[in-house]
Amino acid sequence: MPRLNENYLNLKESYLFSEIAHRTAAYAEKHPQQGAQIIRLGIGDVTKPLGKTVLAALHEGVDAMGSAETFKGYGPEQGYEATRNAIAAYYKRNGVNVDPGDIFVSDGAKSDTGNITDLFGPGNVILIPDPVYPVYVDTNIMCGNEVTFLNGNAENQFLPMPDPKQHADIIYLCSPNNPTGACYSREQLKIWVDYALQNNAVILFDSAYEAFISDPELPRSIYAVEGAEKCAVEFCSLSKTAGFTGTRCGYTVVPRELVFRSSTGERMSLNAMWNRRQCTKFNGTSYIVQKGAEVVFSEEGIRECQENIQYYKRNAKVIADTLEKLQIRFFGGVHSPYIWFECPNGMDSWSCFDYLLENIQVVGTPGAGFGENGRNYFRLTAFGTFEKTTEAMERFVTLFG
Ligand code: MLT
Repeated sequence: MPRLNENYLNLKESYLFSEIAHRTAAYAEKHPQQGAQIIRLGIGDVTKPLGKTVLAALHEGVDAMGSAETFKGYGPEQGYEATRNAIAAYYKRNGVNVDPGDIFVSDGAKSDTGNITDLFGPGNVILIPDPVYPVYVDTNIMCGNEVTFLNGNAENQFLPMPDPKQHADIIYLCSPNNPTGACYSREQLKIWVDYALQNNAVILFDSAYEAFISDPELPRSIYAVEGAEKCAVEFCSLSKTAGFTGTRCGYTVVPRELVFRSSTGERMSLNAMWNRRQCTKFNGTSYIVQKGAEVVFSEEGIRECQENIQYYKRNAKVIADTLEKLQIRFFGGVHSPYIWFECPNGMDSWSCFDYLLENIQVVGTPGAGFGENGRNYFRLTAFGTFEKTTEAMERFVTLFG
């Protein structure tokens, strides 16, 4: 009999978004009439189709695969040079220098934020904010790691800061934040970077929602902060930026400056380790997808993506305006597609989930799924259509007005 990874026994029975899908489907099956009225503002899945520029490039990629002269087999595990150069140019456009050699193209930030645990041994002090995207916590539980939570709450605007008295080895940060929509300022990120450098720690920075930042003063990358290249890995995604939730593409930056010591004093480069890990366990993102990804970062691609992002931000405003009118306290929704609100009438978040589903057939995400500090909060996404979002908010007014 195989000995199993019993750390899995310590996980919640199912992944948050699978649980929501399951509960919603069960409700719809039991109440088919109401089920047909369900508006889904739960998982952050986009609804706008891919932009024309991306689509044309994907078609080009497909055509290339159909001819012996242009056919591509296994590609570089790190990503094609053209894609990595396009990503580096995108960083540059946002005022940040990233070497294409430090960029690894992948099938998405979820995989990379999960797989990065491969690089770390046992016994680290791991700081993870709470509430947080569940992948960081679950993947650490799978490894049997202990996690120290950083409390995010209304008092700190869901932007926890380091405690100089507490040591850390690994720090997870996400800004703009999933689920709260809160966004760290440059000054706040500088404090985190200085803290990481003092502790000889690594920051794992999830920047999947950077394209939603519209204030030029707010950093879209941790590398906008001095010293971050010596302590931070950054994860990015095309899912929310360019509508790639189904197409799958992301990228991770692992600067070559990130060198730590083994227990016997040997220098170990995180870039070399990640490269080794990817070469062993990953055969690269498909050529066709990378053709599409490359043009996401072109002038036209950026324009098309921004058009969609503005559409989602209009939805976010509809949600925010409604909550304001209803005097429901909320966070986010400005530099983020997520709105994080306090459950009305003292409900806990799963009760709120049932209440909304049963009374107005609106599906959201219970804050408890993102951690203890989310137990009285609820997340709505702005990734629905404008019509459905508006309708959902009209239903909110009838329920809470
Ligand atoms: C979310 O809803 O939090 C995200 O869509 C999940 C993800 O990006 O994997």
